[in-house]
Amino acid sequence: MVARRRRGPRRGRADRDAADARRPRRPPRCQRRPARDRPQRGRGLRRTAHRRRQGAVHRARADDLRRVVRGHVAAARRAIAAGMDGVEVHAANGYLLQQYLSPASNIRTDHYGGSAQNRARFVVEVVTAVAEAVGADRVGVRISPEHDYQDAFEPDRDDVLATYGGLLDRLRRMGLAYLSVLHREPAGNLVEELAARFDGPVVVNSGFATVSSLAEAEQLLRAPFVDAVAVGRPVIANPDLVERWHGGHSLNEPRPELFYADSAEGYTDYASLPIG
Ligand SMILES: Cc1cc2nc3c(=O)[nH]c(=O)nc-3n(C[C@H](O)[C@H](O)[C@H](O)COP(=O)(O)O)c2cc1C
Repeated sequence: MVARRRRGPRRGRADRDAADARRPRRPPRCQRRPARDRPQRGRGLRRTAHRRRQGAVHRARADDLRRVVRGHVAAARRAIAAGMDGVEVHAANGYLLQQYLSPASNIRTDHYGGSAQNRARFVVEVVTAVAEAVGADRVGVRISPEHDYQDAFEPDRDDVLATYGGLLDRLRRMGLAYLSVLHREPAGNLVEELAARFDGPVVVNSGFATVSSLAEAEQLLRAPFVDAVAVGRPVIANPDLVERWHGGHSLNEPRPELFYADSAEGYTDYASLPIG
């Protein structure tokens, strides 16, 4: 048996006019962007332009980048106004700023992409703006070279050194509060070389694979270029972690199912040691 394909109703002129009215239109000449901001020719870029009309993801334009900088500044100001000692600019873990640093995720062809110096440019701009807004001594920066997370791959050690070394050469002059480096070998050669390019306190962490412990922290602090160790999960699970580590007490186990949850549960309800 052959099934007959069902036809929809024939489209009349009124239907066609209604469909045309819904179709996005080219904006009037006075609202078009200047030629230098328009995507250049090329298949991918034409697709990008098409998606932009659909309201989907598009390559960040100059005004988008300015908005991101303003967002960082506004967030930093609010954090300080709320009583925080300082803020950390997050250029790690494959989030937006590291996506500019990585040659895999940054495929721009303007002065924010291509060379190591260009890829570091946006991070420098964000950190500069935040430091000017709240004071450089209240601003730390976190990086995670070679972390290869969320598609921000950085497989080439020479490129990593050029990109992050160049970045730190520019950040060093600002007098920032600290540099935080997440790396699988936090006391290894790469971090040592990068620490030498930064003239301030260096905080390290080995990442999510193993949970930080007192023994690991003490071991890392033996490296002459390490000033502090960032601790995540044990601090979340133990509001009195310092006291517990000092006194050799047992620790609460973190509850990973509550990480990134949307309530205070799992953040503010872990038990402290009994007083006295
Ligand atoms: C709930 C949770 C949230 C985290 N959020 C961030 C974050 O926003 N940015 C970041 O760089 N690291 C974040 N981390 C990672 C920690 O900074 C740290 O690198 C990681 O937990 C490894 O250290 P640990 O073994 O002491 O937990 C987070 C970790 C946890 C558990």
